[in-house]
Amino acid sequence: MSDAATKEQVSKGLEGIVASETKISDVDGVRCQLIYRGYSIDELADKATFEEVCYLLLNGRLPTASELKTWNGDLVVQRALDPSTLQIMQQLPFNDPMAYLRTVTSAIGLADPDAERITPDALTRHAINMIAKTTTIVATFERLRKKKPMLGPKPHLGHAANFLYMLHGEEPSPVAAKALDCYFVLLAEHGFNASTFAGRTTVATQSDFYSGITSAIGTLKGPLHGAANTKAMEMLKEIGSPDRVQDYVQKTLSDHKRFMGFGHRVYKGEDPRAKHLKRLSQEMAALKHEPVWFEISERLKEAVWSAKKLYINVDFYSASLLYYLGIPVDLFTTIFACARMPGWSAHILEQLSDNRLIRPLALYVGPRDLHFTPVEQRQASAR
Ligand code: CMC
Repeated sequence: MSDAATKEQVSKGLEGIVASETKISDVDGVRCQLIYRGYSIDELADKATFEEVCYLLLNGRLPTASELKTWNGDLVVQRALDPSTLQIMQQLPFNDPMAYLRTVTSAIGLADPDAERITPDALTRHAINMIAKTTTIVATFERLRKKKPMLGPKPHLGHAANFLYMLHGEEPSPVAAKALDCYFVLLAEHGFNASTFAGRTTVATQSDFYSGITSAIGTLKGPLHGAANTKAMEMLKEIGSPDRVQDYVQKTLSDHKRFMGFGHRVYKGEDPRAKHLKRLSQEMAALKHEPVWFEISERLKEAVWSAKKLYINVDFYSASLLYYLGIPVDLFTTIFACARMPGWSAHILEQLSDNRLIRPLALYVGPRDLHFTPVEQRQASAR
């Protein structure tokens, strides 16, 4: 079959296209609601731990107490990095953190003797491996580049608390640990977003789990998707104080630039995760006695709404929250990747449980009927 298509069929950016069915989450753009496996994130944000949400997303239901104990134990066992991975990590350049994470993920897949197996059991093992290890990779990256001693994970700490411990070298306060845990819950899954779709597309060729995750990380890296949290914090820092918000908004509008952390392809109102992230950011601002980033955010949200009627998205309050947690700004997108790992994994399992190659058409709009000219007869064409 040729790629014959008509102009009417074209949907740039696949906007409005329903590419498949899913039982993992419902991103309701009209009512601005988000559901994981039937549970509203409003309930999960208050009541569930990240580990429980990982189980829910991957298994389709909440765990019993004994299942959760086993699950937590499996995650704890997988947190530590193998000596061979650590050796590779020490030799890589400490440039872009997302490129680093993408490369280390690929290396872990290469070293896993089981990587090519795509049965549900094997995929679940790979998922536990990557959910557990991603936070360790990010914390180790930070310690290596700052020439600080590497720290091993502490088994008695929860996933979020252990990450903050490995990053900072001291156990976090309960408020900080809970705030990051809640951030992880809120960002764990989000339908057919670009990175998840990239991961599903990769494994739909029957490629392996790690290739799917590597594709997803590479896709999350862009500023229109995961890197918007880094860009949003850079924006808050550039503004610097609440009284400079109006000037910043006017300049951004006159320069025809985008406000990072605003706008969404699916939500027609405010992102349902934003109110929870706002609360967490406000709590951390109070804990740190540093209200400025929260105050700038509040004023900016109002000013952008007045000027352009744009709603905030998940990355807006994530920025100040992650900053209050002491996470370096250029690591923010890797934290998003840590959170999204269970969502990506669940989608890879779902894709392969009822697989069909993902292969859309394209409408060819280039020239036709050209004839080949031998290289010595070709003229340089004006560009
Ligand atoms: N700042 C300024 N104008 C905006 C913004 C923004 N953040 N978002 C949309 N617009 C305007 C845009 O200029 C366009 O206006 P016009 O029609 O006059 O040219 C109109 O709104 C529609 O924009 P679009 O780019 O066609 O809409 P989209 O659905 O393709 O964009 C988006 C969605 C998220 C890429 C976009 O809103 C954006 O660039 N936001 C900033 C980056 C960001 O915060 N990304 C995180 C997205 S949510 C989390 C995630 O996916 O990781």
